[in-house]
Amino acid sequence: MRSILARQGNADEYGQVTNRPEEVPLERVDDAPVYASATTADVPLLVVDDLRVRFPTDDGQLQAVRGVSWEVKEREVLGIVGESGCGKSVSAMALLGLLPPTARISGSAKFRGQELLGVPDREIRSLRGRKIAMIFQDPMTSMNPVYTVGGQLAEAVRAHFEMSNKAAMLRAIEMLDLVGIPNAKARAKSYPHEFSGGMRQRAMIAMAIINNPDVIIADEPTTALDVTVQAQILETLQEVKEEVGAAIILITHDLGVIAGMADRVKVMYAGRIVESGTAEQIFDTPRMPYAAGLLGSIPSMEGASDVLTPILGTPPSLVNPPEGCPFVPRCPLAIDECHHDEPDLLSTDQPEHEAACIRWEHLATVEDPRLLFRTGDELVDAGIIDPELVSES
Ligand SMILES: Nc1ncnc2c1ncn2[C@@H]1O[C@H](COP(=O)(O)OP(=O)(O)OP(=O)(O)O)[C@@H](O)[C@H]1O
Ligand code: SF4
Ligand SMILES: [Mg+2]
Repeated sequence: MRSILARQGNADEYGQVTNRPEEVPLERVDDAPVYASATTADVPLLVVDDLRVRFPTDDGQLQAVRGVSWEVKEREVLGIVGESGCGKSVSAMALLGLLPPTARISGSAKFRGQELLGVPDREIRSLRGRKIAMIFQDPMTSMNPVYTVGGQLAEAVRAHFEMSNKAAMLRAIEMLDLVGIPNAKARAKSYPHEFSGGMRQRAMIAMAIINNPDVIIADEPTTALDVTVQAQILETLQEVKEEVGAAIILITHDLGVIAGMADRVKVMYAGRIVESGTAEQIFDTPRMPYAAGLLGSIPSMEGASDVLTPILGTPPSLVNPPEGCPFVPRCPLAIDECHHDEPDLLSTDQPEHEAACIRWEHLATVEDPRLLFRTGDELVDAGIIDPELVSES
């Protein structure tokens, strides 16, 4: 993964870089960062339309992202959820010009009306880390091990603003303090390996907010952390979101992570969005069996749902995706018709709740969709499946 801080130079007492290589252009894109910029609710900030990403492989073209569209409004939290390999990271990295040159990208992604795809790298660089910041899963790969944490944060400011080393370091310390690093002034002099996993992730959040961005893309920000630290990091993210006034795109394979945080949710499967709705709709009344399956595999204290039920099987190959619904082999509701065409996102019985499932109406009649991935007899007993209708596959 490419680091936005992969720079060389001399360092001061904080390990802050004091000279820069010539190929890193310095540009002042705005006035000095301030908190809580005035924003208008409900204005689309970032609009992604029919995003497609392919990678050439020895076996053929791997269709990592197959026509994804979404938008995020000012200060909104958009959750993007799906199993490993469904295209979450690739779709986010495409927006920021972080994919390798072999990637074939099409579609559109506009930030405040400005196209991000296919524009010169220099233009994207001026937005990346400034207007749109990204927090990666593993801070160790995103931080430079040879510079101090404070030095790297200060450098992130100076990449976008003309500012003295001292002022940039003061801001770095302020940010470390804001994200809950104790004794921030002293800890700014530490190297990334001297921080715990949770502290490193806090430092990454500090790095993401240091330039007061409009959008923060957090890609699996808590996956590498234990459950208690996960909760603390999510709380910190929520707090800084309020403080900075940014929108957040929260990418995760774990629906539990976005519970209580996301306003709207996009569920991804095999490179596409297969369900879209408010967090409440997705959690309480899923209309696509896959989302119901994700719900059944997170802990719940209510009724029978407290028994975890994983979705068996694996997603299809993205080199030769199947013709019908890509979820057929794993779906307890699959019928023969599901093999024919890949369903588009269909309107459901709820406003702005869409599902790529021809049987969403049947799912709507199921009392507890979390039970959907229980085994045969339990499903029949619960009235979820009619054995007569179930496909042989
Ligand atoms: N540089 C690349 N070259 C070829 N294929 C790639 C490349 N990067 C990603 N892929 C493939 O694209 C698909 C989507 O990958 P992506 O990293 O977006 O998944 P993800 O949803 O973020 O999964 P995870 O939860 O594991 O992070 C996967 O099949 C992956 O193997
Ligand atoms: S279209 Fe068919 S296979 Fe696909 S999710 Fe719906 S019921 Fe299952
Ligand atoms: Mg990923």
